[in-house]
Amino acid sequence: MEKVAVLGCGLMGSGIAQVCAQAGRDVTVIEVSEELLSKGLGRLEAGLNKSVERGKLSAESRDQTLSRLHGSAKLEDAAGADLVIEAIVENLDEKNKTYSRLDQICGPAAVFASNTSSLSITQMMIATSPERQRRFIGMHFFNPVPVMKLVEVVRTIITDPEVCAKAVEFSRGIGKVPVQTSDRTGFIVNRLLVPYMLDAIRALEEGVASIVDIDAAMKLGCGYPMGPFTLTDFVGLDTTYYIANIMFDEFREKRFAPPPLLKRMVMAGLHGRKSGRGFYDYQDPENPKPLSL
Ligand SMILES: NC(=O)c1ccc[n+]([C@@H]2O[C@H](COP(=O)([O-])OP(=O)(O)OC[C@H]3O[C@@H](n4cnc5c(N)ncnc54)[C@H](O)[C@@H]3O)[C@@H](O)[C@H]2O)c1
Repeated sequence: MEKVAVLGCGLMGSGIAQVCAQAGRDVTVIEVSEELLSKGLGRLEAGLNKSVERGKLSAESRDQTLSRLHGSAKLEDAAGADLVIEAIVENLDEKNKTYSRLDQICGPAAVFASNTSSLSITQMMIATSPERQRRFIGMHFFNPVPVMKLVEVVRTIITDPEVCAKAVEFSRGIGKVPVQTSDRTGFIVNRLLVPYMLDAIRALEEGVASIVDIDAAMKLGCGYPMGPFTLTDFVGLDTTYYIANIMFDEFREKRFAPPPLLKRMVMAGLHGRKSGRGFYDYQDPENPKPLSL
């Protein structure tokens, strides 16, 4: 799979396009408008320039990477791709509209891969023709893509095993470590991580310990790089709430149910780092202060 089309040049799409081009693939990255495209590609180039300044990338590699990247605001330009990686907004209608058009545009051998975090691959796959459905998978990258090694390769109950094997090989070829999982909401990482984050909030609600002490306990007791509240502030409380609701809807199990405190914090606009306040107040980012409840 040498020719790759990446749909969306936002946070994830720009990172995916970058790692594919850095690994020598020919990449067409597609956005909805020229304006958003140049914004996304500008961010990508700025990131590469920073790596050069820090001595992590040679100027020659940066130039080669950029020469392999082509931008477009037309979905038709995905026509020649062997692999299409979709990283557009997390909205099923939007994704399915795009997939049904893409199915007409791309050749019969092209593989479609979604980077969705919370939607089911099967729900998107059915927007395409029966032949394509066997060539439809999930490829779930992690943020920031150039840094995070993991890719969850997701198969549906009808995915051709050969397509999965190709996606695994492709992921290794771009320097990632693939793991394989079936199409269940949350895949591996979020299925285990989201209940852990929600449970920490429940422990706080029940008065087990303070925000600072729960964070310190999990950092020092388990060797985690950060505690659950610092992590939830990073991910975003709104995103965590959104994913928890989707997982609860799928499994109907209490461990996925968003606790009332999370819901209220989201309603009150305490979305974590990005909004300046979550479980900590980031007015002084070097010295975050825990929320007093
Ligand atoms: N943010 C994360 O940490 C993360 C991690 C893993 C997976 N994801 C998944 O990746 C996908 C993208 O997330 P993001 O955080 O990069 O979002 P984002 O909002 O930063 O980027 C999405 C981009 O897609 C573009 N877009 C929308 N409709 C399009 C279309 N029809 N064709 C082409 N481009 C279109 C938007 O203009 C936007 O620039 C989502 O499915 C999300 O669930 C996100």
